[in-house]
Amino acid sequence: MIARMRLPEPRGPLTSALCTDLTGGTLAPATVDLAERIAATTTDPLLDEDLQLALAICYELHYRGLDGVAEDWEWDPDLLRLRAHLERVHTAALRELVGELEVTDEPVDRQLTALIAADDGPSLSAYMSRTGSLEQWREYLTLRSVYHLKEGDPHTFAVPRLSGRTKAAMVEIQADEYGGGSPARMHSELFAGMMRDLGLDAGYGALWDDAPAAAFASVNTMSLFGLHRRWRGAALGHLACVEMTSSEPSRRYAAGLRRLGFDGSTTVFYDEHVEADAVHEQIASVDMCGSLVAGEPALTDDVLFGAACSLAMDGLAARHLLGAWEAGRSALRGTRAIAA
Ligand SMILES: [Fe+2]
Ligand SMILES: [Fe+2]
Repeated sequence: MIARMRLPEPRGPLTSALCTDLTGGTLAPATVDLAERIAATTTDPLLDEDLQLALAICYELHYRGLDGVAEDWEWDPDLLRLRAHLERVHTAALRELVGELEVTDEPVDRQLTALIAADDGPSLSAYMSRTGSLEQWREYLTLRSVYHLKEGDPHTFAVPRLSGRTKAAMVEIQADEYGGGSPARMHSELFAGMMRDLGLDAGYGALWDDAPAAAFASVNTMSLFGLHRRWRGAALGHLACVEMTSSEPSRRYAAGLRRLGFDGSTTVFYDEHVEADAVHEQIASVDMCGSLVAGEPALTDDVLFGAACSLAMDGLAARHLLGAWEAGRSALRGTRAIAA
């Protein structure tokens, strides 16, 4: 049987009420009202710890589930109503963050390339390559573990929504994410191995309590796109952007770990992405996104929106990490020991 993660520690009134209700078996109408109220009043939804964790808990029911939470919750209509309040404000915040996107008649792969080239977010990989200490590396992997221990999964939800060349291209990419038939080569497994090498607990969801809101905002964005057919264009644009921005940074991340004395057995996660994503980049932008918008030109906006959200979420996480480190603080929540 699959090992389920335990419910994370609440971070505010909403997650507190939600966790109580999920384990107790009934969703109190007051909890749905609370979600609506928090969604209406939060000033920074993407960095709101309580809101982002609540959304992540709702989405986790579609992945592996949570220990002590009945499986029936996955399609509970009242819980979906609660989630919709959070999704609405999360989506509006994404729109505001990425701003107006210019859509042209150019092939979509070129528009994606231009969007990425125009990104002026801070380069976390440059910092980790040259400066990042072992402790900062541990913090970085803790934050990223919220995604990488389920690497591939959020986008995979989009597969049944596609057809033809678009679908074949996405499955080709995702097959590599899942190790091409070899469990040990799954990217989530390679990431877990790297975590263990740095002395971190690599259990699925084990470090959620340490991860800041930015980590959940990033994965919640992918889950939102993957779980709603309406956002299939954004899911594909997001995946394309991940693939297109992975190869060179992965080379830098690997160099950062080697600088700290780690060898190829630890850097294999990054080495794999240097190679694979140089190939995935073309498949994702030309074959996958290109054929999607050839069939449904109206989705071009969503493809670019998804890609812009990917860049924006990377920027959010990078600013969170670098800002904390510059101020001489930990970028993680609390001071709990994160060692295995
Ligand atoms: Fe990957
Ligand atoms: Fe990839």
